[in-house]
Amino acid sequence: MDLFAEQDLQQPARVERISDQAFALRGFALPKAKELLAALDSVLLQAPLRQMQTPGGYTMSARLSSCGALGWTTDRDGYHYSPLDPLSARPWPAMPGVFLALAAAAASSAGFSGFVPDSCLINAYAPGAKMSLHQDKNERCHTAPIVSISLGLPAIFQFGGFERSDPTQRIALFHGDIMVWGGVDRLRYHGVMPIKPGHHSLLGEQRINITLRQAG
Ligand code: SIN
Ligand code: FE2
Repeated sequence: MDLFAEQDLQQPARVERISDQAFALRGFALPKAKELLAALDSVLLQAPLRQMQTPGGYTMSARLSSCGALGWTTDRDGYHYSPLDPLSARPWPAMPGVFLALAAAAASSAGFSGFVPDSCLINAYAPGAKMSLHQDKNERCHTAPIVSISLGLPAIFQFGGFERSDPTQRIALFHGDIMVWGGVDRLRYHGVMPIKPGHHSLLGEQRINITLRQAG
């Protein structure tokens, strides 16, 4: 088992092109996984995961939190980026340096230089949780890419077109994979199919997704 872990660390990440400006960077986060998880623990102590309501009145199945200058939230009034965590009425935890560095490196590997995210959304999925097809379009400017890090249990990521009803590609995402999409693909619909039950050696029965964006 240890041999496998060593190999993972030494393997250069494999870049899969999903679309013109959308890439799956396989295993890109693996060398930093322990650091990422330690930073994540500290963020979630300050801003715990919580279930949120959609404007339509549904309760999201994933639990969410944020860090960075702006945090994404949803409630009955709509989707918002806010400098304050509504649970504590305090600023969101600072963006950990390892998030910033990894996001910039991943963006750069996908052809987007100078990526400096000011917002990090954390999605925690228990088995059965999902994310319906949506566009990331609450950001002020769409020139920066989306960088999305997968940890823990695998997921089937759906990557679609510019209309909700367009056909989707299904991409299996594993612990340590990073998806980057921007440019002409920035506003594509995407989502996550219900997570299958399972156990991950570091994260147990869950999948964590860390999405970095330039929102403000
Ligand atoms: C999202 O689009 O907010 C989440 C994507 C993911 O969990 O992979
Ligand atoms: Fe999204």
